[in-house]
Amino acid sequence: MNTTVDQADFFKTLTEKSDGGTLRGDYSGCDANYVVQQDWSAYTPEQHELWRRLYQRQAKLVPGRACEEFIKSLAAMNAADELPRFDRTTEALYKATKWEIVAVPGLIPDLTFFQHLANRRFPVTVWLRNPEEFDYIVEPDVFHDFFGHVPLLFDPVFADYLQKFGQGGLKALDQDALTYLARLYWYTVEFGLMHTPQGLRIYGAGILSSGGEVEYSLTNPAPRRVAMEVERVMRTQYKIDSYQETYFVIRDFQQLFDATEPDFTPYYDRLKQVEALPANALLPGETNIAPNLA
Ligand code: PHE
Ligand code: FE
Repeated sequence: MNTTVDQADFFKTLTEKSDGGTLRGDYSGCDANYVVQQDWSAYTPEQHELWRRLYQRQAKLVPGRACEEFIKSLAAMNAADELPRFDRTTEALYKATKWEIVAVPGLIPDLTFFQHLANRRFPVTVWLRNPEEFDYIVEPDVFHDFFGHVPLLFDPVFADYLQKFGQGGLKALDQDALTYLARLYWYTVEFGLMHTPQGLRIYGAGILSSGGEVEYSLTNPAPRRVAMEVERVMRTQYKIDSYQETYFVIRDFQQLFDATEPDFTPYYDRLKQVEALPANALLPGETNIAPNLA
């Protein structure tokens, strides 16, 4: 079943819980900001083994496909052999960009999520998927969050973008504009592509932690690949249970940062007056950027 999501709750929008909203994860020990202890020693040898398998599959895929910033930082994180200890990564990360990782039980409320980002804290889920979920999970786990998202936090420009995003999220909550900001998150942080002199490269965490979409997003002729433009992205619905029908392409993180610098209030006002675009739209005048050669 393919669902096109269009509702105004950020995390419900991102994941659309099919079971009516029961979250996976143990929320009993968390503080007011939904932060828990990672309890690294509780991971079993089987879980470390599953982590290694997940890591190896993805690490083999990223050379020549992920953007340079991701590849460089992933290697420096040294996370290939076992589930990472968040506090050790935070030490290195804080030195690089003054970001920290905080452990969370799973999905957290929008307000809390944005507050963490606005304060340069990235929430990483503590639980790891089951072996049967090797290829696909419904909610983000530690592999998606850590492998997919943390490397780019070492990049100073992306790091600043994500903090601004958190601040923008707090504002969007006030302005009843979460739907639009969720689309921006989806099409940049989760599924963004970058056009480099060497060809298309991936920076979106949802692609980078996926076994199949890494190659698909770059070389399959079926999806649209459209130059990223903030208001266009914010108008566009997305698929949550299939590969994306459109990828938005940036030149570099500075362009992404600059494009999101303006006050979004007038954008939101306009967006509330127009219909959303389907996930596969290609507008008159838009170029469908050619895929990389397989
Ligand atoms: N400029 C945005 C606003 O006015 C803030 C923002 C920056 C949001 C970067 C998302 C990403 O809300
Ligand atoms: Fe994610």
